[in-house]
Amino acid sequence: MPDYIPSSAEYECTDCKDREFLYKEHGGDWVAVPCHCRPKKRMRRLIRASGLTEMLRKKTFDNFKPKPKQQEMYRVATDFAKNYPNIKNKRCNGLAYTGTVGTGKTHLLAAIANFLLSKGISVCFVNTPSFISELRRSQFEEGRIDEQVDAISNIEVVVFDDLAKEKSTEWVQNQYYKIVNHRYINNLPTLFSTNSNMEELEEKLGDATASRLYAMTKDRLIHIVDEDHRIIE
Ligand SMILES: Nc1ncnc2c1ncn2[C@@H]1O[C@H](COP(=O)(O)OP(=O)(O)OP(=O)(O)O)[C@@H](O)[C@H]1O
Ligand SMILES: [Mg+2]
Ligand SMILES: [Zn+2]
Repeated sequence: MPDYIPSSAEYECTDCKDREFLYKEHGGDWVAVPCHCRPKKRMRRLIRASGLTEMLRKKTFDNFKPKPKQQEMYRVATDFAKNYPNIKNKRCNGLAYTGTVGTGKTHLLAAIANFLLSKGISVCFVNTPSFISELRRSQFEEGRIDEQVDAISNIEVVVFDDLAKEKSTEWVQNQYYKIVNHRYINNLPTLFSTNSNMEELEEKLGDATASRLYAMTKDRLIHIVDEDHRIIE
């Protein structure tokens, strides 16, 4: 007997008691069918797992008003989101923004993530410097790093925002390599933004990782140099 059984008043869905399935009789057998509450709950789980902050959840294509130099990055982002079902099966199925600060890179990556989530696709939006710090802290917990690396390696779509901002070390390069190589060989869509150019990425992430990231994003790799829109916001 469990220690604690919630009373019916605590179920969000009293029809299925939050099991998300209902049992129905079918041809003399009992079969489980999804409850009406399941899509809503699944969407909530996807959003929670995405890592998008409340602020980033608000970044959409509608509230991005592209300035002349941002037209191309905007076009590529909306095209990627709309055509994702076709693009994901291509060998080059990622997207990347390199360039100066405050030019809308994070906004558009978040807009893509929000759009894909709304279609029920699993997306993880990674603030890369925080993720690397978290990995460093996990070094001292048995098995913890493998868990975190596996999670990021296997999710359908990953966005690495602010890639290569942290100090580069051989250890960090090895972690990047494991993740990027896994995503590369499994053809999993990978998106990123960075203030570095491709040569700097090679230096910071290592040639093997940078070369795979390039191959995964080269058809949608935009370099933007513009004024800082953060200041004039
Ligand atoms: N065309 C635009 N329409 C609306 N908001 C914009 C536009 N361009 C930028 N912004 C806003 O300006 C701010 C800075 O943009 P963002 O964070 O996307 O820049 P970034 O390129 O990621 O910069 P960094 O390299 O410093 O991370 C954000 O709040 C973003 O929503
Ligand atoms: Mg940014
Ligand atoms: Zn239900």
